[in-house]
Amino acid sequence: MSAAALSLRPAARPNGFGTILMDREGMVGPMTEPTEILREEHEGIQHLLHVLTAMAERVDRGESVARTDVDDVLEVVVKFADECHHAKEEKALFPALRRASPEEGAALVHRLEGDHEAGRHLVAALRSEAPAAEKGEARVRAQFAKDARSYAALLTRHIDAETEQLFPLVERVLPAKERAALGAEFDRIEREETGAGAHERYEGTIHRLADRYVHAAAHAH
Ligand SMILES: [Fe+2]
Ligand SMILES: [Fe+2]
Repeated sequence: MSAAALSLRPAARPNGFGTILMDREGMVGPMTEPTEILREEHEGIQHLLHVLTAMAERVDRGESVARTDVDDVLEVVVKFADECHHAKEEKALFPALRRASPEEGAALVHRLEGDHEAGRHLVAALRSEAPAAEKGEARVRAQFAKDARSYAALLTRHIDAETEQLFPLVERVLPAKERAALGAEFDRIEREETGAGAHERYEGTIHRLADRYVHAAAHAH
């Protein structure tokens, strides 16, 4: 895996996040498709899931995983995958799709929201089991590894469903003007709820942990 492949914010978007130019008449400039923004974030989330899976494998082998590393990966899971990425879907994209496609869209959104909710339960469990990944009872360690794998499997299936079903539907049923409004809303969520510089910090954390857990594991085999 190249370093560039780990980027949450590829250099291909030199103008930065949410470069959507609006005036009173509506969109006037180049637009980054909201689905494109979410696709890029999915890549970051997938790298994060690889780190979590590699940690679970270490715990299964009876090795110790530093508490600070587990806390760091879970922090990015909560702040990036859930509070930033899922917030964009739940607060902006899903309501728009429900309105535009009250049957097919609404049914799909219902299913995807259920995945987000199931993911939150697993993350809550992982946070309470996290100390055992470093040192703790065998039973809790095994549960941590199991929940980490369940979370990775759940989100992998979820991302596949969004890529194969959600994004094509959004591109089909939402007119360009509405997609531009969504992009602006993503931008607001990013600015007001995620905060400046947060993406870069998460990216740094994922790089560091991928080097330590995923790449190291690949070299050991
Ligand atoms: Fe989602
Ligand atoms: Fe997503």
